[in-house]
Amino acid sequence: MQLQLISPLDMHLHLRQGDMLKNIAPLSSKYFAGALIMPNTTPPITTKEMVREYKKEILDATKGDNFTPYMTLFFKDYGYEFLKEIRDEILSIKLYPAGITTNSEGGVEKIDIDSLAPTLEAMSELNIPLCVHGESNGFVMDREAEFIPIYKRLAKAFPKLKIIMEHITTKEAARALQEEENLYATITLHHLYITLDDVAGGLLRPHLFCKPIAKRPEDKEALLELALNAHPKVMFGSDSAPHPRSAKEAPGCAAGVFTAPIALPLLAELFEKFDKLDNLQPFISLNATKIYNINPPQKMVTLVKEEFEVPISYNDVVPFKSGERVSWRVK
Ligand code: DOR
Ligand code: ZN
Repeated sequence: MQLQLISPLDMHLHLRQGDMLKNIAPLSSKYFAGALIMPNTTPPITTKEMVREYKKEILDATKGDNFTPYMTLFFKDYGYEFLKEIRDEILSIKLYPAGITTNSEGGVEKIDIDSLAPTLEAMSELNIPLCVHGESNGFVMDREAEFIPIYKRLAKAFPKLKIIMEHITTKEAARALQEEENLYATITLHHLYITLDDVAGGLLRPHLFCKPIAKRPEDKEALLELALNAHPKVMFGSDSAPHPRSAKEAPGCAAGVFTAPIALPLLAELFEKFDKLDNLQPFISLNATKIYNINPPQKMVTLVKEEFEVPISYNDVVPFKSGERVSWRVK
């Protein structure tokens, strides 16, 4: 049995820098036609020069793979003229609340609509979507749900601004998506597979620790409902976030699940299990092309129903399902 995917897209990806980037970027570019590249590098991507340099670093590492890195800027106050000039070189701007996750210290201290308005109005006018890591600084399990009113206020205050709720993990986010016309969402692979029980219900599993943390079974069900039916306002964004093994297997474990190299086989397995294989194409590509109005490179990726064992690690980065068997593989 075979499955052909046309131009798969990963609309939320961390590629890092330097040697890490050289090692892991090809694990996305082999399997995907393009990806939205997160800007939480050190330092974060905030200028035109940085966008160009980072894009070049990615293109050099993925040469020959027919892969488009869609670049993002790290949200801060930007003026209209600057945004107008950079508009054609980025696909979106990513907003992080300050300190909420890896390398987000320079993020927004307080999400106050009035103070963010000049930049958001300019983005709205220039048609630049806003991607948001939507978590409050409250109790860890409640952070996303507590952020929903902010999403709604933003959506209402800037009705022409496309707002993407990144890596949603809750039924509350799934509901908000349906309630505001200009809210969209990405869903990761791991949040379709795991709940908090998998992370911390038995022995602690650091390689499943990420932000936002995986939630309850009913939350996972709400995400599955959206993804498996390829709801037109959701798209795949892996949030694949590599950290060296030493940073994960440590007293202070870094947040991030590394899924890029096995995302397509595991999505095929999941969609097949629920008899929804027909919906994988829109979830993995078509929805994103419509939401972002992009034309990714033509790239056919063939999956075959043959077992393979997920490697224990890729250059010292331990992947999701490390050492386990998956029933599909990329040909
Ligand atoms: O778990 C996460 N890791 N969540 C994020 O939002 C960032 C990411 C990273 O960059 O490591
Ligand atoms: Zn992320």
